[in-house]
Amino acid sequence: MKLKRILKWSARVILVALVLGFLVVFIAYWRSTNDCDRNSHAPSNPIKAIVHCEYGSPDVLKLEDVEKPVPNDDQLLVRVRAASVNPLDLTIRGPWLIRPLLGLRKPKDTRLGVDYAGTVEAVGRNVTKFKPGDQVFGGRDGALAEYVCGLADRAVALKPANMTFEQAASVPVAAITALQGLRDKGKIQGGQKVLINGASGGVGTFAVQIAKAFGTEVTGVCSTRNLDMVRSIGADHVIDYTKEDFTKTDQRYDLIFDLIGNHSFSERRRILNPNGICVMAGVGGAGWHDGMGMRLAGELNAYVRSRFVSQKFVAYIAQLNKADLTILGDLMQSGKVAPVIDRTYKMSETQAALRYLEEGHARGKVVIVIE
Ligand SMILES: NC(=O)c1ccc[n+]([C@@H]2O[C@H](COP(=O)([O-])OP(=O)(O)OC[C@H]3O[C@@H](n4cnc5c(N)ncnc54)[C@H](OP(=O)(O)O)[C@@H]3O)[C@@H](O)[C@H]2O)c1
Repeated sequence: MKLKRILKWSARVILVALVLGFLVVFIAYWRSTNDCDRNSHAPSNPIKAIVHCEYGSPDVLKLEDVEKPVPNDDQLLVRVRAASVNPLDLTIRGPWLIRPLLGLRKPKDTRLGVDYAGTVEAVGRNVTKFKPGDQVFGGRDGALAEYVCGLADRAVALKPANMTFEQAASVPVAAITALQGLRDKGKIQGGQKVLINGASGGVGTFAVQIAKAFGTEVTGVCSTRNLDMVRSIGADHVIDYTKEDFTKTDQRYDLIFDLIGNHSFSERRRILNPNGICVMAGVGGAGWHDGMGMRLAGELNAYVRSRFVSQKFVAYIAQLNKADLTILGDLMQSGKVAPVIDRTYKMSETQAALRYLEEGHARGKVVIVIE
């Protein structure tokens, strides 16, 4: 009798919790709003920027007037000359899994882009390391605009003099992902054998060059049309994934930097030396493609299973910072790293740039020139 009463009350409590939970989500969904709903007046000091008021395909992107940002005491105001796009910009599609962070019904942040390069136009009064006229590159939300404002002590550094704005703008997210994956997660050391799966894309082209700069022997995995390009940026060996499975050779590697995740834990473990590391950095080229869900599940499985073997399988999210931008600036200044730019678009062609990136077959970086 008592058990029946407990069960009845538990069912009621669960039902009420479910109804309340549904109501909270329903209200949060319909209250979800953004600048497009709030700002009805025309900007007093307009600049052009790429804006998306809704989630959707690259068709939702618009070139619009927004208010010119004003730097505070600790910030720089940069006139952007070039920007580049990354797979993360495709969150404009609003994947449901991360909508609680991005905004449930509409994107909270309506601006696009992170990577930029440009000229400092003004500095706040506490800023001593930069001055108007300095050429810089860095990462800041909303970088696809004529101007960005950002804290001087965050992810911004002087642009190497031997780099164009387009080259420098292609660096931040992709090159920092490669640097932090190889150095911090992969513990890369000179003389090691390193395999880079996905060597021809935005991150991969930097990874090949950075791994070479560390004095390693690099094997790049790419398709037939990219073999020469991957060789030309320094890979000692190349494997054509359309003809050969890199996990079925007799080679052993100290480090696998995997941007694709299309091989199982056992397959990759077989080609790793006993203390080797597999850095799981991504699940294929930009955009959604068949089998991506399975790849994500496979990476999670590899992460768990590697706890019980001598080889390590690690994952990470790259963090933009000034120190690593400075290291990358030095690598570019010394000629050890030179960005590979696939295509360049105007800001008014950002939709086309994102559509191209989303196909997942970029050869290096896709850059936007801000005129
Ligand atoms: N962990 C992080 O913090 C972080 C940061 C940035 C990016 N990522 C992830 O890293 C991955 C790569 O990013 P990205 O900017 O380099 O993307 P991307 O520029 O769109 O990569 C495109 C390249 O991937 C190659 N590719 C596709 N399928 C392949 C396969 N089966 N084998 C070998 N190469 C293949 C393509 O070559 P083909 O044309 O020959 O197919 C193309 O050159 C993405 O999944 C991205 O989400 C992670």
